[in-house]
Amino acid sequence: MDFFNYNNNQLFAEDIAVKELAEQYGTPCYIYSRKTFERHYLAFADAAKSHKSLVCYAVKANSNIAVLNILARLGSGFDIVSKGELARVIQAGGDASKVVFSGVAKTADEIAYALELGIKCFNVESVAELERISKVATDLNLVAPISIRVNPDIDAKTHPYISTGLKENKFGIDIQTAVTVYQHAASLPGLKITGVDCHIGSQLTEIKPFLAALEKVLTLIEELKAVGIKLTHLDIGGGLGVPYNGETPPHPSEYVDKITARLADYQDLELIFEPGRAIAANAGILVTRVEFIKQNQDKFFAIVDAGMNDMLRPSLYQAWQSIVPVEPRADDTPTYNYDIVGPVCETGDFLGKDRELALQAGDLLAQRSAGAYGFTMSSNYNSRPRVAEIMVDGQQSHLIRQRETLESLWQGEKILP
Ligand code: LLP
Repeated sequence: MDFFNYNNNQLFAEDIAVKELAEQYGTPCYIYSRKTFERHYLAFADAAKSHKSLVCYAVKANSNIAVLNILARLGSGFDIVSKGELARVIQAGGDASKVVFSGVAKTADEIAYALELGIKCFNVESVAELERISKVATDLNLVAPISIRVNPDIDAKTHPYISTGLKENKFGIDIQTAVTVYQHAASLPGLKITGVDCHIGSQLTEIKPFLAALEKVLTLIEELKAVGIKLTHLDIGGGLGVPYNGETPPHPSEYVDKITARLADYQDLELIFEPGRAIAANAGILVTRVEFIKQNQDKFFAIVDAGMNDMLRPSLYQAWQSIVPVEPRADDTPTYNYDIVGPVCETGDFLGKDRELALQAGDLLAQRSAGAYGFTMSSNYNSRPRVAEIMVDGQQSHLIRQRETLESLWQGEKILP
């Protein structure tokens, strides 16, 4: 459930009409709802209270410092994949001791930065990385808490680009060889083995693959115990899907309950979750204005002011996200099947295809479920300044990222003497 609803034929973000926000801040813009972020985070955190646990929001889904701060105030931890994301968490008032560091290519500099800040754990993705962390920690006279990210070879049944737990994916260490890798880790200086983790993919709409992965990880935990390696946490990753187009993923509380139920005999094992999309996606919309209506023979296009540089998911993954009028037309404007396309010079520049809508130039549209992997994947392609981000909090709105200026487009660039 979210807080973007119609009232008197007007789409609202919490208590403010989206039309007013579009007039105030201009389009395109991302509009978020604080209440929705909080509600989704608490759905995980409250359900997880039945077990020793920590919810580490995956920063990559939406990394605006206002978003991170809202979650940090509720006690959230964070899953990060770069120095930049960690710096954002700190800037937002997040607690470094609740940060887990994922990602396949952590540099020595990133490792040192995270170690000095005292993060909770490094999720290690290869033997070479393990050795690098050991060296950096030893050089700094620090101890790095580590967990091995295992690849359980489970089919997450999601889009191939966002599936991560199969052996053909670049992520994690083959679970078959994990015991040996842990033994190697135990022999290296500067490391403290604390956990195990896995993340099998994103936008999963069933619970079964999570439970299958959990089974394999629990077997590994037993094997490790048998060789004298005792873990203190299990990180199940993120990946819970959201309803973009009629999918029926389990509610976060149902997902958490099923996992904690399986861990009833592991009360001492802290459970870590890394949800991104399930917290952020439906907490945001992308608002865009129709510039032109265009007809090529029997094909109708609504050309809007937001493009693939602002929202890449439809182009990159053929992702479907609902597109709705901010103020549905009550007049006799005819309905057509529109392709909603942007201004970028690429055929793949679309927000949605074949959307039955009654539109006129100047109308405002909202692309739903845009709060995750929307702004964070945006770019300046075609020299388009990145758009404004606005957080609505009840009757108040806050500009949480200003629209980029033209000058910002060439900031740091230099003409030859
Ligand atoms: N943990 C790790 C290690 C991850 O790699 C990811 C996402 C997450 C947690 C959070 O997963 P979530 O709960 O959001 O599914 N750009 C794509 C999604 C890529 C996800 C990458 N990893 C999209 O727009 O669909």
